[in-house]
Amino acid sequence: MNNSLRAAIAGVGAYVPDKILTNADLERMIDTSDEWITKRTGVKERHIAGDGDSTASMAVEASRRACENAGIEPGELDMIACATITPETLCPSSACYIQRDLGAAKAAVFDLSAACSGFVYSLAIASRFIEAGQFKNCLVIGAETLSRFTDYEDRGSCILFGDGAGAVVLKPTDQDAKGVQYTVMHADGNGWDFIWLPAGGSKMPTSQQTVTDRLHYLKMRGRDVYKFAIEKMQWLLEDCMKACNLTPDDVDLVVPHQVNIRILKSATEKLGFPMDKVYVNIDRFGNTSAASIPIALDEAVRTGRVGPGSTVLLIAFGAGLTWAGAVVKL
Ligand code: COA
Repeated sequence: MNNSLRAAIAGVGAYVPDKILTNADLERMIDTSDEWITKRTGVKERHIAGDGDSTASMAVEASRRACENAGIEPGELDMIACATITPETLCPSSACYIQRDLGAAKAAVFDLSAACSGFVYSLAIASRFIEAGQFKNCLVIGAETLSRFTDYEDRGSCILFGDGAGAVVLKPTDQDAKGVQYTVMHADGNGWDFIWLPAGGSKMPTSQQTVTDRLHYLKMRGRDVYKFAIEKMQWLLEDCMKACNLTPDDVDLVVPHQVNIRILKSATEKLGFPMDKVYVNIDRFGNTSAASIPIALDEAVRTGRVGPGSTVLLIAFGAGLTWAGAVVKL
C-alpha cells in the first residue's frame, strides 16, 4: 500500500443522444404543462436515446472522449467501472460491452448499481485501487438509458428522466493537494420502494402479466423521495466540508446529481452556497441518474467553470436509498 498516492481526474468526457424530448412534446403525450414541470422540477427538455443508442454505446462515446482528454489509449486502462441501473443486458455487465468496443483488453470491468449515487460510489472504489498502487488508469462511467424504463403514462415520473453518459479517467498523483481528497457512501434499504423497478429480476421474473401491468417501468413515490433527498444532500455537503476543513468560500463548485431544481436549491442555500456555486443543467438534460454528475462535470470543465486547482464537491442521492459524496481537487 502506497499511502502517498491520490487518484487525480486526468480526463473527462460525456455523450448525450441527439433526440430531444421537450416539455411541449410531453404536453402532447400526457396531462401536464410546461409551467408545471418547470416549476416543480426545473426540467425544460431531456435527451432521449434513439434507435441506435443504448447504455453501452453512449458510455463508449463518453469514454473515448475522456480517454482522449486524459491523453491515454483505451488499451492502457486497468479498470472500467460502469455505474448504471439501466444496463445493456442483465448479463453480462454493460462494462463488458464497453471494454470490447473500446479495445480495453487489459481492464478489469464491472457494473455498479447504486442508482443516482452510482457514479460517486464507483469513483470512491476506483480511487482506493489507485491509492493502493494496484491500478494506474481507471475509467469511471455513469451511463443510463432511463427512457427505456420510464412509463410515459405516469406523469408523476416521466417528466423527470433523460438519457446520457459521462466518464472520467483517474490516474495516480503524488501531489497531496490534487485528486480525490475524501469520499463517503451510505445506504438505507428500508427505502427500497421509494424508487424501484418491480419486474424483470429474480423476485418477479418477466411474464405477460408483468408486462400488462407495466411493472417493467420505474415507480417513484415522489413526495417521499423529495423530503429524504433534501435531508441527505444537505448532510452530504456538511459532511464533505467538515471532513476536509472547508467552508463554502473554499469550494469553487458543487456538482450535484441533477435530481430536481427545488431539491438542489433547498439543500444548498441553507448551507450558504449561492446558486452560482452550484452547477445546474437539469433544464437541458433532466435527471439522468448515475450519468448526471459526470455529464455536469464534463460541461463545467470544458466551459472553464472549473480547472486545475479548483475544489469541487460531488453529492448524490438516489434509489436504494443510497447517498454518496466526494471532495475532489482538480
Ligand atoms: N403535471 C401536472 N400535474 C401533475 C403532474 C404533472 N406531470 N404530476 C403530478 N401532478 C399533480 C398530481 O396529480 C397532484 O394533483 P392533485 O393535487 O389534484 O392530486 C399534484 O400534481 C401534486 O402531486 P404530487 O405528486 O404531490 O406533486 P409534487 O409537488 O410532489 O411534485 C414531483 C411531484 C415528482 C415533481 C416531486 O414529488 C419531486 O420532485 N419529487 C422528487 C423526485 C426526484 O427527485 N426523483 C429522483 C430521485 S434521484
